Amino acid sequence: MDKRYLHGFIPEEQQRLINQAGFLTPLIYPKIDFSGCKRILEIGCGVGAQTAKLLELFPETHITCVDHSEIQLDKARENLKFAGNRVDFLLQDATELKLPESYDGVYICWVLEHIPNPEKVLRSLKPFLDKEAKIWITEVFNSSFYYQPHGERLEYYYSQYNTYQRDCGGDPDVGANLGNLLFREGYNEIKTFPGGFHLDKKDEGLLLEFLEFWKKLMRSGSEGMLRDGYIILDDISGMEEDLDAIAKNENPIFFYRFIQAFATI
Ligand SMILES: C[S@@+](CC[C@H](N)C(=O)[O-])C[C@H]1O[C@@H](n2cnc3c(N)ncnc32)[C@H](O)[C@@H]1O
Repeated sequence: MDKRYLHGFIPEEQQRLINQAGFLTPLIYPKIDFSGCKRILEIGCGVGAQTAKLLELFPETHITCVDHSEIQLDKARENLKFAGNRVDFLLQDATELKLPESYDGVYICWVLEHIPNPEKVLRSLKPFLDKEAKIWITEVFNSSFYYQPHGERLEYYYSQYNTYQRDCGGDPDVGANLGNLLFREGYNEIKTFPGGFHLDKKDEGLLLEFLEFWKKLMRSGSEGMLRDGYIILDDISGMEEDLDAIAKNENPIFFYRFIQAFATI
């Protein structure tokens, strides 16, 4: 299996995950409802950025954080020290889970996009879910990205970014497939919801903030893409200049959809 990972595990990336979770909280969390859940399993917890939000929003719950990267889990332990015994940590591959107990909630955020055969995660989970378990998933749908004015260097960089993710074994459009994946694995009450942003001239301040956020997201792939020859250094500045040009345009458009899914067992 290809062990490359689009974003890498360097400290800047770990900090980006924390910033990203904070920045996107108003878009991600309005729908997610784990009320009544006592034991949530978070798959691909990374450095605990989403875990911290879940702990805050659902004060009754305990969260078991699973990741297959020791580096991420070490950072998560540090970041979530404040939560004491409300969290625990397991180093496991999400496609081959061997869990010590059962759960009444599962959260997966920005993880299936990196996993070849993401249905294996949904299959691997099932034996550890209580009858009333709620599953929430948030995932990318990168083909939904639309912007104006057109920028060749941004288009090129974005296309290389998505190609690199696919070549690492992931799927930058996995969000659009969540309903199919859950259905095929026999989950029930499946619902999918588009989320994201559609910014234009009326949103000038917010547009600038999202453009900066997007630059950091795009740059998070650059270490691997440079190393493996998908881009050269100039492609990074080209991508950033084209993003800056959006803010300066008379008729800017910046549009992206991620997809959220809910299911029960
Ligand atoms: C983009 S990060 C998202 C982290 C966190 N969910 C968040 O939103 O901040 C993806 C995480 O999934 C983890 N991951 C990828 N494949 C995995 C697998 N097969 N099993 C467990 N964790 C995995 C990575 O190590 C990484 O920490």
